Amino acid sequence: MLFKGALLSAPMASVTDVVFREICEFYGGADYYITEMISAPALLKQGPLETYYCNFSPAPEKTIAQLVGGRVSDLISAAELLLSRAPQLAGIDINMGCSAPLIMKKRAGLAWMSRLDELPGLLNGLRDMTRGKSLSLKFRIGLTDDEEALMAFLERVIPGLPDFVTFHGRTKKDKFSRNVRWDLFDKVREACPFPVVANGDISSLYRFSALHRLHDPHAVMMGRSAAQSPWLFSELKAYMENPGTVKTPCLSRSVDFSSYVSLFTGRLFSLVPEPLRKSRVEHFARYLSPNLFWGNHLLNRVSAARTAEEAASFMSEYFIKHPEEKIKTWSY
Ligand SMILES: Cc1cc2nc3c(=O)[nH]c(=O)nc-3n(C[C@H](O)[C@H](O)[C@H](O)COP(=O)(O)O)c2cc1C
Repeated sequence: MLFKGALLSAPMASVTDVVFREICEFYGGADYYITEMISAPALLKQGPLETYYCNFSPAPEKTIAQLVGGRVSDLISAAELLLSRAPQLAGIDINMGCSAPLIMKKRAGLAWMSRLDELPGLLNGLRDMTRGKSLSLKFRIGLTDDEEALMAFLERVIPGLPDFVTFHGRTKKDKFSRNVRWDLFDKVREACPFPVVANGDISSLYRFSALHRLHDPHAVMMGRSAAQSPWLFSELKAYMENPGTVKTPCLSRSVDFSSYVSLFTGRLFSLVPEPLRKSRVEHFARYLSPNLFWGNHLLNRVSAARTAEEAASFMSEYFIKHPEEKIKTWSY
């Protein structure tokens, strides 16, 4: 299903929800969206926020739901539940890369990379459940730079024949500090008979073009750069269709940041449940702030706000106080 050259929006907890997808679509849209991780056990318990997490609008046919969980049975049942409730979904992705202590403690996320004996059962069960839909996995190098361990993991994954996998070339310890290991991306791609999506630090046209020239990935996935500039996908698509038209080493365009913020706050109050709004607006401001000259100051105000309403009013006041910031040139 994953066509060559596809641009994917990465899963980002507290960021890539229905609001984010609506904004991306407004600006042209990604080829596929991976949702933020959805807890399989919480989904099965039908917690109060699950309706929101399972809102796959506005493009469910381009949306892949990412599940996180430590039990084989939970992941399979959660995949079944999601696909029965939202049959338009493009597929199911399993989080095998998250190294947050709370996730690892539940033997979920990155912990799967060490649970070799259980992988065939998990993948066979998921494959049966996701018939006709895409099944994918997202992982990183591992706990450490142990290449043998990475290859042993792949040996167990390959017979399960996922439709694609996404590789982020960093270890648990790296967080975002060290450069992405593109040499390992090449090795993973060589080992896998299915597409391997490239992910990590694709944060400029220079990097995007170099990645294509040097590693020729089947598809790429972007997280933080898309959260900062949700119009990135459409700009990159236009560039890929006609690379010769870009004469400078970067993409640039004029963006109405004031309208962008209004688009976000409008959707926030209509689509996000009240208990989650404050944290969502803070995450939004974190990725908005690098675009603005006084962005750090705005971010501090938003973080200190007592309510989501107060945070939203700080963001709209910003453009009244700094009208020169409304429409600015963005570059990538
Ligand atoms: C705030 C934040 C939340 C994230 N949440 C998830 C998640 O829910 N599932 C997942 O597989 N990866 C998650 N990631 C990792 C990203 O999907 C991606 O692999 C990473 O940010 C590197 O890509 P980038 O350089 O394009 O941002 C998250 C990253 C960030 C910064």
